[in-house]
Amino acid sequence: LILILDFGGQYNQLIARRVREFNVYCEVVPYNISIEEIKKKNPTGMIFTGGPSSVYDEKAPKCDEEIYRLNIPILGICYGGQLMARALGGKVNRAKNREYGKTSLNIKESTGLFKNIPENLICWMSHTDFIEEAPSSFQVTASTKDCPVAAMENHQGKLYAVQFHPEVEHTQMGNDMIKNFLYEICGCTGNWTMKNYIDDQIQSIKEKVGDKKVLCALSGGVDSSVAAVLVHKAIGDNLTCVFVDHGLLRKDEGDWVEEIFKNQFQINFIRVNAKDRFLGKLAGVSDPERKRKIIGEEFIRLFEEEAKKLGKIDFLVQGTLYPDIIESGTETASVIKSHHNVGGLPEDMEFDLIEPFKFLFKDEVRAVGTELGLPEEIVWRQPFPGPGLAVRVLGEITEEKLEIVREADAIVRDEIKNAGLDREIWQYFAVLPGIKSVGVMGDERTYAHTVGIRAITSSDAMTADWARIPFEVLEKMSRRIVNEVEGVNRIVYDITSKPPATVEWE
Ligand code: XMP
Repeated sequence: LILILDFGGQYNQLIARRVREFNVYCEVVPYNISIEEIKKKNPTGMIFTGGPSSVYDEKAPKCDEEIYRLNIPILGICYGGQLMARALGGKVNRAKNREYGKTSLNIKESTGLFKNIPENLICWMSHTDFIEEAPSSFQVTASTKDCPVAAMENHQGKLYAVQFHPEVEHTQMGNDMIKNFLYEICGCTGNWTMKNYIDDQIQSIKEKVGDKKVLCALSGGVDSSVAAVLVHKAIGDNLTCVFVDHGLLRKDEGDWVEEIFKNQFQINFIRVNAKDRFLGKLAGVSDPERKRKIIGEEFIRLFEEEAKKLGKIDFLVQGTLYPDIIESGTETASVIKSHHNVGGLPEDMEFDLIEPFKFLFKDEVRAVGTELGLPEEIVWRQPFPGPGLAVRVLGEITEEKLEIVREADAIVRDEIKNAGLDREIWQYFAVLPGIKSVGVMGDERTYAHTVGIRAITSSDAMTADWARIPFEVLEKMSRRIVNEVEGVNRIVYDITSKPPATVEWE
């Protein structure tokens, strides 16, 4: 285990990702973790992240200085390195020339952190303070034009510090430096794999659950699907999955999810077919927020009804991911957030949570899914909003409109897949704005719907850009939708980024 002490740096998750890419397990913990807690976790090494503060600020985050005497290897990055320098008698100061961006680095030492690394390379700097003087027990191992101590080490004390960011792609061989820290300095063996992770999780879920009952709200999305299969592997029939089909899913999606989980994986699977109930509640409603609210509430009500039918349930499966936990900061916050994720279930329903992925990143969950034999279509599924097609049919929802958007959407997805773009584009779908326009087909005038195509690139859906889909692919989609979907005579492509637009149209 490598502990990553989080001092608030913007790259803290990236450091964790890098460590794991070398098959070494790591956890991100708050900077003020106690010495007892560290001893309990017994890490093979620690990494201090960067952070926005200056070590001289009164409120600057500081770790217990006892930490340097534990004889556990430490790598301090940027702020983390400055903190180490200051605590052990070095000098940290405001740099006259603040460095930001790619900077040329001179390495003086070819062992330890810099084993098999060339003497000169480019590193990524981002700092205002700098280490002016290393502590007397340290040796300076690298410098830049403006940084006399770009790296330093106390070999005996197993203490290492760098002013630059080895975790950032722009640092040449930065990954190799991290690898050297893990393998050469900490002596990690790199035996953490998804297979081991799965085995450990299965064991601990078995122990936790025993003979008790577990419920999982399955949406068919990546996280809940992989979680369901993993938990099922651990406890078999003590798991029940409830899949609420609100009739707002994509073409054939409900049947497909049922086929996979019920038949292929033989999981206790309850499909609640509630299309009429949802469409009934939505009839005549055109305000987007009202639509969302109705769907959300109805969803919870149905889930609750099913849960009650099952008798006493002890645990609920949640697909919480590690970034949620890191972002919420503390263990207490993570609990609040998890409960919040349950989505307002009534307070008298009490259960513990099973969160098998609360230490995993999204791509690691995908790797678990693949390892467990889930089909690629689920493991690599694009995000799909909870209210489904209801937010893609603008205004009032009718069966006829749903049918149009569903068919058009199937064609969009088909052609993106045919063009081999399905892993590059974050989301791609059809919308029905509810506009009719004049067209001509054969010799006849038509007056029919316009379909919008939306496709975006993004890394987190917080910001997004419209995807530059090749014209030929757009043309194929356009031709097919107009020919194959009744009631459509015009296709438009949405070329707005987020912001100012959102991903969904409602
Ligand atoms: P927007 O439209 O806000 O979407 O730019 C950002 C991301 O969130 C998804 N989305 C939702 N997901 N329930 C969900 O589970 C929702 O109500 C919802 N609304 C939007 C959207 O697909 C995009 O990935």
